[in-house]
Amino acid sequence: MDLKQAYLSFGVVSMANMSESEGSLPLIAVTAAVGAIVLLFTLLCSVFRKDKPKEEIESEQDKKTANAGSEKNNSNKKVKPATKTAKKPAHISFSHTWLSCTLKGHSSRIVSLDFSPNGKYLITASEDRALMLWSVKEFRQKEHKYIRGNVEFDSATHVAFSPDSRALVASLANENAVRIFRLGKKDDGSHNVTISGALDFPSKHKLDIIGVGISSSGKWIMTCSSDTTILIWDLKGEVLATIDTHQVNNSCGKVSPCGRFVASSGFTSDVKVWEVVFDKSGSFSSVKRAFELKGHSAGVYDFDFNNDSRRMASVSKDNTWKVWDTDVRYDMGQDPKLLYSGKVSYPGPALIALSPDGRTVAVGVDTSIAFWDAANEHQDQVLENVHAESMSCLKFDIGGRYLVCSGGKHVQVLHNVTGYKATIADLEEKLRTASGPGMKDRLKQQVSEAKEALENILLSSKDSPK
Ligand SMILES: *[C@@H]1O[C@H](CO)[C@@H](O)[C@H](O)[C@H]1NC(C)=O
Ligand SMILES: *[C@@H]1O[C@H](CO)[C@@H](O)[C@H](O)[C@H]1NC(C)=O
Ligand SMILES: *[C@@H]1O[C@H](CO)[C@@H](O)[C@H](O)[C@H]1NC(C)=O
Ligand SMILES: *[C@@H]1O[C@H](CO)[C@@H](O)[C@H](O)[C@H]1NC(C)=O
Ligand SMILES: *[C@@H]1O[C@H](CO)[C@@H](O)[C@H](O)[C@H]1NC(C)=O
Repeated sequence: MDLKQAYLSFGVVSMANMSESEGSLPLIAVTAAVGAIVLLFTLLCSVFRKDKPKEEIESEQDKKTANAGSEKNNSNKKVKPATKTAKKPAHISFSHTWLSCTLKGHSSRIVSLDFSPNGKYLITASEDRALMLWSVKEFRQKEHKYIRGNVEFDSATHVAFSPDSRALVASLANENAVRIFRLGKKDDGSHNVTISGALDFPSKHKLDIIGVGISSSGKWIMTCSSDTTILIWDLKGEVLATIDTHQVNNSCGKVSPCGRFVASSGFTSDVKVWEVVFDKSGSFSSVKRAFELKGHSAGVYDFDFNNDSRRMASVSKDNTWKVWDTDVRYDMGQDPKLLYSGKVSYPGPALIALSPDGRTVAVGVDTSIAFWDAANEHQDQVLENVHAESMSCLKFDIGGRYLVCSGGKHVQVLHNVTGYKATIADLEEKLRTASGPGMKDRLKQQVSEAKEALENILLSSKDSPK
């Protein structure tokens, strides 16, 4: 819209200029001006042509939503103008008792998502040039409103929340650089949240950025590109350090939740982890090698940390996933220990998510997700055809209650059933070896509570129409 208006006003200005100067100028100048106008017009047409189909789609969808609203006794009336109710599913091909809800709103492929550290929000980025903010609290409700932020003149490819949950770091597709977005409050007294671009970093990467992150210390930002470069930035957009991963090409780059480490994987069979060190006065000191995960026999597609960075999970072209104990004295030369491993049943690029407590592993390949109780190396469940298109992201929420995965335009929100089962199994094991009636009673109580919670989840998702 802004782009169009800019072109329009430019057009009007140059027309006015021309009519003023007409007659008093030599013919050649007039011809040049006419030429410029023709060029402008062509440009304008092409801009309109590009934008039109999208507009049509949008207004058609809006009409559909409006119709659906009136058929359903205007249940949509309560919806805030700033937020839209996610459109009702057109064709739901996936239904399962583990499915909590489907988030719909984007009009193109979702490419990235992240949870806010305060546990309240999910942000999604899509090729439709929008960022959408969803409320985690609403995952168990029927309606899912979202707040939309536009990525002006570009689209976000990767997105990460700041530690205070009030800003976002995003990489941009065209610029191939970082833009900082702020979550603000509307100053109309409504306190409605807005998402707006605040700062653009200079473009420094030669190849596409494939990962962004921000340290929980709030002191630095990481970008990782598909060559072997990782850049560490301060919050103003100055490069503090450049890392060469020596992994032929990078497939994944992340910042650990503890805010100390950056890690990367790629064509080589290891995952490399560095510590970003700040001195006592709070200024940047250096990037130091910390440790490596060594044990795979082929390139590592993806890896993840648990919430305190004491565990990591990785998935490789060698068709295995592995969970590692990374709580080691690496400064004393200790290596991470391999804890658990399992087979990936499907070939092809895989995604991995490790639950906050490090207990559950989810491995996504194409449109399938396998849930593992890692500690027992037991494959609990495989969900197939979760999406119509290949999966783009897989992540546990901060509380470990949900696993979200995006594929195509939608996000599927799944209950952490494997996690509940693991909790129940742990408690039952404790109960078997417990001594003293007080302890036994308490454990029995906890087991029945956990079972009840799980039953409630499975029942409520069966009840709700899908
Ligand atoms: C709308 O539906 C509610 C209950 O679903 C009903 O009480 C109400 O009368 C309906 N209103 C109209 C205008 O149909
Ligand atoms: C903000 O949200 C309120 C509801 O919380 C809604 O009534 C209001 O219209 C919204 N304002 C704007 C400007 O979107
Ligand atoms: C990484 O390098 C390998 C080997 O040179 C190549 O097969 C692969 O396609 C590259 N991947 C990317 C994402 O460039
Ligand atoms: C990590 O998750 C566990 C289990 O969900 C929770 O008890 C713990 O407080 C979390 N720790 C951090 C550092 O967030
Ligand atoms: C799954 O959720 C339950 C209940 O909230 C929790 O106790 C458990 O730690 C979670 N599991 C995982 C793997 O996060």
